[in-house]
Amino acid sequence: MGDLKGLILSGGAGTRLRPITHTSAKQLVPVANKPVLFYGIEALVSAGVSEIAIVIAPETGEEIRAAVGDGSALGARVTYITQDAPRGLAHALLCAEGFVGSASFVMYLGDNLLRDGITELAAAFRASRPDASILLTEVADPWHYGVAALEGERVVRLVEKPTEPPSSLALVGVYMFGPEIFAAAKSISPSARGELEITDAIQSLIDSGRRVESHTVTGWWKDTGQLDDMLEANRLVLSDIERRLEGELVESRVEGPVRLDAGARVERSLIRGPAVIAAGAVISDSYVGPYTSIGPDVVVSGSEVEHSILLAGSRIEGVETRVEASLLGRGVRLRRVERRPSTLRMILGDRSEIEIP
Ligand code: G1P
Repeated sequence: MGDLKGLILSGGAGTRLRPITHTSAKQLVPVANKPVLFYGIEALVSAGVSEIAIVIAPETGEEIRAAVGDGSALGARVTYITQDAPRGLAHALLCAEGFVGSASFVMYLGDNLLRDGITELAAAFRASRPDASILLTEVADPWHYGVAALEGERVVRLVEKPTEPPSSLALVGVYMFGPEIFAAAKSISPSARGELEITDAIQSLIDSGRRVESHTVTGWWKDTGQLDDMLEANRLVLSDIERRLEGELVESRVEGPVRLDAGARVERSLIRGPAVIAAGAVISDSYVGPYTSIGPDVVVSGSEVEHSILLAGSRIEGVETRVEASLLGRGVRLRRVERRPSTLRMILGDRSEIEIP
């Protein structure tokens, strides 16, 4: 099955996830305690695509290399290609021309998550070998995506972030291509946002009479580029987990699907799943509610948290108001102190966001 190569795009500035992305790549933000990017690598490997190049940006590339390495832990053989500046998805693809050679390949956007993976789609592509195969799904806000106009099954037009969308069918960030896509990517000019759009490259294939197939995604799909989508992806992934309690429980109650990893400790608390709690985390005198992912070495004491993602080493201590729909970066500390006058005191990184009731 070594017929298709894989190309994962993992650059981009992640502006919509600041301040997390000031210090970390958006593709490494964990969903259910696993970096978003790993789900993409696993989806490719499951579809029989294990020879993978990851396109990285100069700013976040080292961190991605450190996390993924040679890919062997995930069953892949991973190499890296640096894209000097974020000049668009079609530009990233052109950076990978040497790696792809004359093979057909899957291009996967590193911040995309698909519940049902890409195995069936890859099989359909292998069977009919079109010049491109795109994935579509109905969305409520098509203007945020590439949008397709169909005539029956046939794709007739693709537009990137249209103000007047021709349909509500968004382009999912997974594409399968034959080698013709390189000539198409070289034939287009930058869009209004100054990028070489993959959407325009595929349109150019259509214009020159090439075969472009489309498929509709069955399970859910999420582009995790912003906070609400990230939380929603976390909710969706946690909806499928199974109960597995390996950590230490002291005078606590655990309801529903909860994964408590070995080396985590829960004392005098209520954990209501679905939730995951990583090794080294300590939850005491607290409530952890549904759809919460608690990373390694997190501390939650005398507090309540739900529908949130807490990254490694963050702490919530003595906070009486329930924390919800929040994303706490690594080592973030949120705590209540007894002090008069009762003032708020904080040190916040650039573009942090806080809401106080
Ligand atoms: C990119 C593509 C867009 C596609 C989306 C899916 O948008 O340009 O066509 O619908 O990914 O995630 P971007 O995330 O670069 O705004």
